[in-house]
Amino acid sequence: MQPSGVTTDVVHGGPWEGRPAAQQPEWRDHAAYHESCRTLESAAPLVPAEEIRHLRRSLAELLATGALLLQLGDCAESLYECTPHHTAHKLQVVDRLGNRLSELTGRRVLRVGRMGGQFAKPRSRPTEQHGTQVIPAFRGHMINSELATPHTRQPDPRRMVWAYEASAAVQRAMRAHRRGDRDGPWSSHEALVVDYESRLVRRDPDTDELYLTSTHLPWAGERTRRPEQAQVALLSAVANPVGCKLGPNATADDVVRVCAALDPRREPGRLVLIPRMGHHRIRQTLPPLVRAVANAGHPVVWLSDPMHGNTVTTGLGLKTRHLTDVITEALRFRDILDGLRQHAAGLHLEVAADDVTECVGAGVENEDGLHRHYTTLCDPRLNAGQATELIEAWTKGTAAVRS
Ligand code: PEP
Ligand code: CO
Repeated sequence: MQPSGVTTDVVHGGPWEGRPAAQQPEWRDHAAYHESCRTLESAAPLVPAEEIRHLRRSLAELLATGALLLQLGDCAESLYECTPHHTAHKLQVVDRLGNRLSELTGRRVLRVGRMGGQFAKPRSRPTEQHGTQVIPAFRGHMINSELATPHTRQPDPRRMVWAYEASAAVQRAMRAHRRGDRDGPWSSHEALVVDYESRLVRRDPDTDELYLTSTHLPWAGERTRRPEQAQVALLSAVANPVGCKLGPNATADDVVRVCAALDPRREPGRLVLIPRMGHHRIRQTLPPLVRAVANAGHPVVWLSDPMHGNTVTTGLGLKTRHLTDVITEALRFRDILDGLRQHAAGLHLEVAADDVTECVGAGVENEDGLHRHYTTLCDPRLNAGQATELIEAWTKGTAAVRS
């Protein structure tokens, strides 16, 4: 669907071309590759430049006023859960948690969903072992199927078109839901698959700027944030607000270089930095990065992802996270930012709309309780009750924290 009044122009080529890119599907030899790419090139923008500018202005205002940002949703969206019904349910949870954060802090809360395009996943290993068989890993519904057979795990470029159509449905429902609300929920996802994202870059004839029209707030992941690679080059070229994850091995030099690439003009509202260090490591790893960014003069929005550094595997091989660890990292993040006189702007969370049992804590007493309703396509998500407990702890700082 074309949002009303949009006349953005297709862009052929850009500074991302010819650059190496981590985590890409090997599908160039697939019979449908070229046609799938052409379909995306001629497709309407999923989000209009005006909405993207609106979010960027809101992020700048956030920095000026001490408002907050809550970004949340699935680790990997399912292409089968993009119906208006599913989207409405997810948006209810985003709003409910955003309202709770606002109520507890008395501050304006910008809301951003990990939705409307979060269909591609970086993986730490390219293959998985199933019994005696080694098959390609699941990489998100934009690339392959979660069904664990050699055939269904082959990357299929037609899935990019399917993901585009599903995103259009989600964006349509989100737009209707926002109905002019200036605080969202806006869309976001990791800009991972260069074949997909690069074909949705459009030039806005009103301003002559490039926009990534696949989402409002794209981010570079921990595995895709190298400044010399295609994903950062693409995000550097567009005028969207952009995010960047920072893992425990990021050095001050890495961060200064990625900030220079993504925010060369040092503009408030342009860059959201999202550390995901792990509760054990954040006190060592985060302060030097915050100092380096402040010294380099980038007015960034600092957001804590207390999920991705705290993933553990149970004895039965299930990925999970302990709410106590998640809360500990979030509180430490806030204390570090406060101590360095920077604004701890909020949280980036993996939360399911359904009442899942994927993380331990707040109603899921121990690992045995995980099996009751474990449905994630990728990482373990909090349910809304667990996320509420985290938000309450983050705002009061009174939760029981592991030392
Ligand atoms: C994610 O957000 O799902 C993710 C893969 O995060 P990271 O890039 O921080 O590992
Ligand atoms: Co994840």
